[in-house]
Amino acid sequence: MKIAKLVAYEVLASGGYPTVEVKVTLDTGAIGIASVPYGASAGKHEAVVLTDQDKTRWNGNGVLKAVDNILNTIVPAIKDIPTENQIDLDTQLIQLDGTLDKAKLGGNAILAVSLAVARATANAKRLPLYRYLIETYHLEPDLNKLPQPMTVIIEGGKHADESTDFQEFCVVAKEQGSVAENVRRCLETYHQLKGILKENKLSTNGGNEGAFAPNGIPTNEKPLEFIVEAIKRAGYTPGGELGIAIDAAASEFYNGNYELKLENRQFTSDELIAYYSEWLDKYPFVSLEDMLAEDDWEGWVKLNQILKAKGIKHIGDDLTVTNIGRLRKAIENDAISGIIIKPNQIGTLSETIACCQIANEHGLITITSHRGGGETNDHFIADLAVAVGSAYVKVGPTRGERVSKYNRLMEIERELRG
Ligand code: PGA
Ligand code: ZN
Repeated sequence: MKIAKLVAYEVLASGGYPTVEVKVTLDTGAIGIASVPYGASAGKHEAVVLTDQDKTRWNGNGVLKAVDNILNTIVPAIKDIPTENQIDLDTQLIQLDGTLDKAKLGGNAILAVSLAVARATANAKRLPLYRYLIETYHLEPDLNKLPQPMTVIIEGGKHADESTDFQEFCVVAKEQGSVAENVRRCLETYHQLKGILKENKLSTNGGNEGAFAPNGIPTNEKPLEFIVEAIKRAGYTPGGELGIAIDAAASEFYNGNYELKLENRQFTSDELIAYYSEWLDKYPFVSLEDMLAEDDWEGWVKLNQILKAKGIKHIGDDLTVTNIGRLRKAIENDAISGIIIKPNQIGTLSETIACCQIANEHGLITITSHRGGGETNDHFIADLAVAVGSAYVKVGPTRGERVSKYNRLMEIERELRG
């Protein structure tokens, strides 16, 4: 199969700025459409989101340069590659760009093409996307164990003003059972949390990812107490059916020291680890993500030893940025036990899947994740998570661009379970 026609254009993402969407038509007539998200707290080692920097449009956040790169540079270079050869196609895209961070053509430009071609080819083969990915990359997920929800229910940091220093507090499904059942449990907890925040005279306004951003919350620990209570009120057992995850996004409050503005405190890496350590036996943690800054390798290694002893997963996001090189370094240093997977951090489908395969080979869990800056309704990550056998899918609880991922996951479950 070959690309017969490819169009690229700006569409709106949830953050109110444009992002890139690509529509590919193959010579069979099959169509694939894909759009890409962007982060609010993007790690500094991520692939570049190419924006126009033209202040007369979208405060400089237009993506017409990325669109132009697709139409005038990328399409001519890939139009003769059979689209079933996704790895060849992605390799060509990587070489065409030639930079380590995809700064030349833009990670957003490259990824939108990579994903749209995969989807078009899956459609041409009349396969659900996850099946096509499994076949193309020779993946071996256990389809009896689908990825389970990790639902962001309180957010702060770069995702909301006047909330916690930490970026995300999640309720996590601990039981393997049905995805639909677990999505319900997580969302019931979210709804209970609303009442608890109100009782505590905290606002229930939303943040970027559709979670509560409780203006006026006094400490970074308070959400943990509230979530435990919300789990109980929803009729579940904290640490039983449901647990808790934090993504501190610590690079965002690191400036040589770790500064928790909410509590008016400064910490060294060791002090911050000690601060976290007091929580570990108090709350039913499943995983902790980006609790230290993206280049604080020493701190990561220390915290990993502590979490390992407690059976809590230690997850890299800004540390690892879905990048094989950084993942390998984290594995060699024994710094993590799991990794966040975000295709737009690296910029091609094949590199994303290679990263998951390495994680799997080394016994790390993968958590496929949405982005906080601007998401679209595209639910490619749900199929990706199923294909690579992710333990969790991390997504917010409300707003169309978030729930589309859960809905796709539940659709896959219905398809598989009949
Ligand atoms: P983002 O953050 O805003 O950079 O997408 C989400 C996350 O850190 O998991
Ligand atoms: Zn993160």
